[in-house]
Amino acid sequence: MNDLGVIILAAGLGKRMNSSLPKVLHCIGGKPLFSYPLKIARSLNPKKIAVVVGHGAESVRQACSDNGVTWVMQKKQLGTGHAVGCAKKVFGGFSGDLLILNGDVPLIAGESLLNLLRRHSEKNAALTFVTARLEDPYGYGRIVRDNGGEVIRIVEEKDATDPEKKIGEINAGIYAVSADFLFSALEGVTNSNRQQEYYLTDIVAAALEAGKRVATVEAEDAREIMGINTREELALMEKTLQERINRKWMEAGVTLKDPQTAYIDEGVRIGKDTVIGPNTHLLGDTVIGERCRIDGSAYLTNMRLANDVHLKFSVVMADSQIEDGAIVGPFAHLRPGTRLGRRVHLGNFVEAKQATIGEGSKANHLTYLGDVTIGRDTNIGAGTITCNYDGFKKYRTSIGDRVQVGSDSTLVSPVTLGDDVYVATATTVRRDVPAGALVYNERVEKVKDGWTEEKRKKMEKLKV
Ligand code: UD1
Ligand code: CA
Repeated sequence: MNDLGVIILAAGLGKRMNSSLPKVLHCIGGKPLFSYPLKIARSLNPKKIAVVVGHGAESVRQACSDNGVTWVMQKKQLGTGHAVGCAKKVFGGFSGDLLILNGDVPLIAGESLLNLLRRHSEKNAALTFVTARLEDPYGYGRIVRDNGGEVIRIVEEKDATDPEKKIGEINAGIYAVSADFLFSALEGVTNSNRQQEYYLTDIVAAALEAGKRVATVEAEDAREIMGINTREELALMEKTLQERINRKWMEAGVTLKDPQTAYIDEGVRIGKDTVIGPNTHLLGDTVIGERCRIDGSAYLTNMRLANDVHLKFSVVMADSQIEDGAIVGPFAHLRPGTRLGRRVHLGNFVEAKQATIGEGSKANHLTYLGDVTIGRDTNIGAGTITCNYDGFKKYRTSIGDRVQVGSDSTLVSPVTLGDDVYVATATTVRRDVPAGALVYNERVEKVKDGWTEEKRKKMEKLKV
């Protein structure tokens, strides 16, 4: 095969999205649309990848994690042909083949692109492009063929005659084309059409006129080549991608109790024999170990779970780490920077933030653990609060190993509790407590006999 270069078109605004965000920055599977063709293009090891940007160019650049991309600016969006023409200088002196992809066609598979390149080289064509048969071809360019079935040209929806609109074979917007032919052909493309745009698709007729060979390859799975132009298509594509991702994880040994409501981002990894319940969102670059159980209604962003972790029903967690065998929930909230050691238990209505909790420690009920370091085998009683914020600054709390914090205690940070400290129930701890000590607040408990009856009588009298 010839040397390969790639051009990805991503300059359009996407009017039909009705958005202030450039179309290619809309996400499916947690990643912007243009990142999908880019990733696939990268996997083909091309000599160079040029991405043509225009609308929101700076934000598209910032959203891109591939440092090897050459950015091409298309100031005015004069059409796909004009957009490709803008990349000409990037490929000066390059005489191989160029693969042209649309930034708004995210689900194209590497195998299909290899197919295209293979066909292109077998047919010794100047231009080869992908077509598909759609039940509803509305909006796409149609493939016009002669009686012998040979391609004549591509006609855009807006320029098509009624009989042409009935053609079910469409242009996917994916091309392999010899660089020399491409850039010389584009010079002859005009904007004399209904949209007054320079159409890339006009190079098909141009190639045939110049006596060059044009080949096509039909997509096996039409869903792969669907472009996104509207929010409705975005939602459908998200669904298709989810199905694809979910199938991949089920094949890899993960149980999804209700795949319809498992929302797993593209970047997520999950270990074998993990069981995932309904309405679970695994987002960003979340990594889940083996044999974990996620009961359901879980919203996890950039989480790290080791093996055998059990998340009971309904948890929200972000940017935190959980070690082997820990149990969290139901109804727990882990905020960024939290690390739960092995076999830690956090129960219902527990919130943790920037909390490092050592192996075997427990906080099973109604607790706020913010900016705190807790040692091993410590027990935090129900209703314990770390008072980490005085209205001006945040401070840390440090709690040692084997500490017993009695229910309803408040730990006013900055404060340190040594190992084996015992905090009596309902204590407000304001000063550091040395290892092994008991801390309690002096309080007098009084019992008044018959008080309730007296009180009721008084109230009765007041009524009259
Ligand atoms: C294009 C094709 C159509 C094909 C369809 C497949 C043309 C003229 N038409 O139509 O035959 O069926 O894709 O999805 O090529 N872009 C730029 N600069 C521009 C215009 C567009 O970078 O000046 C980019 C867009 O951001 C987008 C891609 O090119 O990523 C396609 O543009 P779009 O306007 O969506 O083309 P379609 O009308 O869908
Ligand atoms: Ca499109």
